[in-house]
Amino acid sequence: MKDYSKVAFDLIKAAQAHEEYRSKECVNLIASEGLKSPAVNELLGLAKDLSCRYCEGENDLKGRVKARHYQGLRYIIKIENYTADLMKEVLGCDWIDIRPLSGTQANQVAFFGLSAISNNNKMAVAPLSSGAHISHDYTGLAGQLAKLEIVNLIFNVEELNIDPDESAKIIRAARPGIVTFGGSLFQFPHPVRELTGVAKEVGAYVVYDAAHVLGLIAAGQFQDPLGEGADFVTGSTHKTFPGPQGGLVFSNLTVEGKMDKGKTAAAKAIQHAIHPLSTSNTHPGRFPALGLAALEIKLHGEKLAKQTIKNAQVAGQHLFENGIKVLGEKHGFTKSHQIAVDVKSFGGGKVVAQKLEKANIILNKNLLPFENQKNKDNPSGIRVGFQDVTRRGYREDDVRYLCDLIVSVINEIKTPSSIKEEVITLAKRFGKIQYGFQSLREVLEYLNK
Ligand SMILES: Cc1ncc(COP(=O)(O)O)c(C=O)c1O
Repeated sequence: MKDYSKVAFDLIKAAQAHEEYRSKECVNLIASEGLKSPAVNELLGLAKDLSCRYCEGENDLKGRVKARHYQGLRYIIKIENYTADLMKEVLGCDWIDIRPLSGTQANQVAFFGLSAISNNNKMAVAPLSSGAHISHDYTGLAGQLAKLEIVNLIFNVEELNIDPDESAKIIRAARPGIVTFGGSLFQFPHPVRELTGVAKEVGAYVVYDAAHVLGLIAAGQFQDPLGEGADFVTGSTHKTFPGPQGGLVFSNLTVEGKMDKGKTAAAKAIQHAIHPLSTSNTHPGRFPALGLAALEIKLHGEKLAKQTIKNAQVAGQHLFENGIKVLGEKHGFTKSHQIAVDVKSFGGGKVVAQKLEKANIILNKNLLPFENQKNKDNPSGIRVGFQDVTRRGYREDDVRYLCDLIVSVINEIKTPSSIKEEVITLAKRFGKIQYGFQSLREVLEYLNK
């Protein structure tokens, strides 16, 4: 290293600069990123000792701590249990594991656990280019780590959704051990209800990856995967669910008043995949903040989710009316927090995302459902998510104004640098994070009432 003290100094400066740049000067539209309230951030910052500790061991079939193997855990055990209880309450499930460190790891433990007890090592899932996550694919975790043979469900590009009839044929022919729904480019609820029966017919477990839409589901504003027949739901706690970065997996193991044998065996296999197979330290410093985010969802989730979805739909309509090809017009563009936009005629997703970045509008390039995965370096699309701006208080007119700025950059009516000041002003106007608590004091006052 050249001069370690200079590098350390630069590191601290970069960390400070990042906070200023992305939280105060940019408009953040990356669909996989969430926003924590000031109180959730405060609780995360408070967990100084907690984030030094280990608490590895086994959990029970209520998602609570069963055994831990170190000393000094009298509060940590309570913290994990309280957090799990709050999460079960908002997610309407009777079993949860909040120990996975991310959505990817949640998929890992679900795929490892289920493939250990299912009929075979085949998994049916939507193709990567039509919105599945890399962890579902044969090129990613599912194929390379879990060694699953991936069979693709049929995706209807017109409908922007999995085709239930054609996919039923695939499931019947391939007889996979796991069928997985959910995705990264995910505007419309997947046909879980329509395909669960077929999955059960061939003895498959049904997994639903709710990484993107967990906050919408918790607020009752997207589909209800467990209610529609999914056996297990995996997810991230930091996208539309406004908690600290982390992952989880949950289920209802009780069916008609009795513990379901197949699901219970599967939950045990997933727990084994969590510990000892893939976690030692579970980063317990995030748990209190996660529990508080669950309380905020309980109190404000419905309003937040409704406005997020409305903002995404308004953006779709407004961009479309301004000559930008937003996908899904016939279904109102989206029923989630995100839209997909075809910008091929403006140079492609990479070019457009880079231009917008120069204007401090941050979003990502994305493959569109009809294109070849080989286009991933400069795909035709961009994906735009509205959960961050909504939490900052944007309503329909603010979204239209933001879309006008985006259109002026895409159409090259204005240069990115010429609108950057407007974007910074806009970002500063929406400095206050809403639909949550401003401080821990406010939380305690509310709870003591
Ligand atoms: C559908 C889906 N699953 C899993 C993940 C991975 O989640 P994480 O980033 O928490 O590992 C993502 C990431 O965006 C995703 O889109």
